[in-house]
Amino acid sequence: MTGVFVVGSINQDFVLKVERRPEPGETVTGAELALYPGGKGANQAIAAARLGAEVAMLGRVGEDSFGKELVENLRDNGVETGRVETVSDAPTGSAFITVTPDGENAIVVSPGANRRFGPDEVATASEDLERARVLVAQLEVEVEAVETAARIVTGNGGRFVLNLAPSHEVPGELLRLSDPLVVNEHEAAFLLGEDARDPEESAGKLLDLGPPSAIVTLGAAGAILATGESSRHFPAPEVQVVDTTGAGDAFMGALAAKLAEGALLEEAVPYSVIAGAVAVTREGAQGSLPTPEDVEKLSSERS
Ligand code: RIB
Repeated sequence: MTGVFVVGSINQDFVLKVERRPEPGETVTGAELALYPGGKGANQAIAAARLGAEVAMLGRVGEDSFGKELVENLRDNGVETGRVETVSDAPTGSAFITVTPDGENAIVVSPGANRRFGPDEVATASEDLERARVLVAQLEVEVEAVETAARIVTGNGGRFVLNLAPSHEVPGELLRLSDPLVVNEHEAAFLLGEDARDPEESAGKLLDLGPPSAIVTLGAAGAILATGESSRHFPAPEVQVVDTTGAGDAFMGALAAKLAEGALLEEAVPYSVIAGAVAVTREGAQGSLPTPEDVEKLSSERS
């Protein structure tokens, strides 16, 4: 049985460290450029693998040098890539990221090959999906592909975890299958509108959309977990923020790894909050993903 199966994006990240972002029509110069492997899917797969889970991924890259290197990178990080295919009609996905001195990021994604698989291609992976304990997906790939994978996994006793990132309309069935549905504050507002004003309450309100459990991540303030029984806040430790890119992916990977081990959400969420906090102390998405020792160290410093 594969512990964690990730259906998601694989991107080449182009990261610009800028003093400030340009206004429309303005040019700013002096930015430092760095290239990192990224993509929410790949980041979450590697995050889970680095924390000890057995992980396989389904995704697409283009027939270019970025694609080749990104797949090698997944493999080098312990992710099984037999279901990652190369397509000739689209380039590898790319993400253009600006990071300001306060560590905040802003991202524009060109999906490219990430959008080159749908329900039929997912169905060809059904034998692998049937063996998944936890399926993790985000929305940088086609929603129909995610839906098909979620039905296969949950229909075979596995658990589906949806990270509704970036915000996108999804069918009600997908929300109902998500256990948990994980969103940040922007994504909560996308789903709930005015009702998302109070994060503590918004986690509970997400349950009205159908998922048995929901998590709202709050950055430096930690995360709120809502289940049928209760809503609970798990605060984050105070850390020196360098780059917030990939912090949400560190959280998701940690959550998937813990749930695949059989942990309860009440145990998995505080662990994932710490994993996310470690990630913001370092540059880049994947370079910042923690090991179990990193999580352990920050947790013991906190207590
Ligand atoms: O969550 C961070 C990721 O979002 C980046 O790695 C980028 O590729 C975008 O997908």
